[in-house]
Amino acid sequence: MTYETYIGLTRESLLEKLQTQVSQKRLKHMLGVEKASVYLAEINDYDAEKAGLAGLLHDYAKELSDEEFLALIDKYDLNPDLKNWGNEVWHGMVGIYKIQEDLGLTDKEILRAIEIHTVGSSHMTTLDKIVYVADYIEANRDFPGVDRAREIAEKSLDKAVAYETAHTVEHLAHLAVPIYPQTLETYNAYVDYLRED
Ligand SMILES: [Fe+2]
Ligand SMILES: [Fe+2]
Repeated sequence: MTYETYIGLTRESLLEKLQTQVSQKRLKHMLGVEKASVYLAEINDYDAEKAGLAGLLHDYAKELSDEEFLALIDKYDLNPDLKNWGNEVWHGMVGIYKIQEDLGLTDKEILRAIEIHTVGSSHMTTLDKIVYVADYIEANRDFPGVDRAREIAEKSLDKAVAYETAHTVEHLAHLAVPIYPQTLETYNAYVDYLRED
């Protein structure tokens, strides 16, 4: 992986930059998602370099302050409803503006995959699904159901998206917190895959 085609930085320089943006723990997770994304790309005949970069950068903005996110929402005239949500939604939907500013990344497909990596979408590209699923199953993840998610991801990205979204919706309902409407759209768009074998 060089990534220079997309950001004019070698992978090594990019890693140095990431160390100034996120904690060691987060970087470890991002590297895990990079690896899982490359793997999922390989078994789904997708461009591994593109998937790897999207996976590596997906949480680039996760540690920005709320104030920074709110300022970006104003600066780029984003949907004002975003202000009613929080970091979980912002670090993807708003984070891509920080990534464009800091790294000059312009690839629309990579930016889109990062944009929706926590909420999904009713229409997901292969790259969108790869990053969404890789984030859930990367090797450092350890929660009940992760092994099942990994098994499903080996067979079908669509089923893995369905499984992950159903569990996310369940988890959020259990915590009695609001669910971002786009997450529910993703659930509705993929739920049929839960019943097929
Ligand atoms: Fe994330
Ligand atoms: Fe993540």
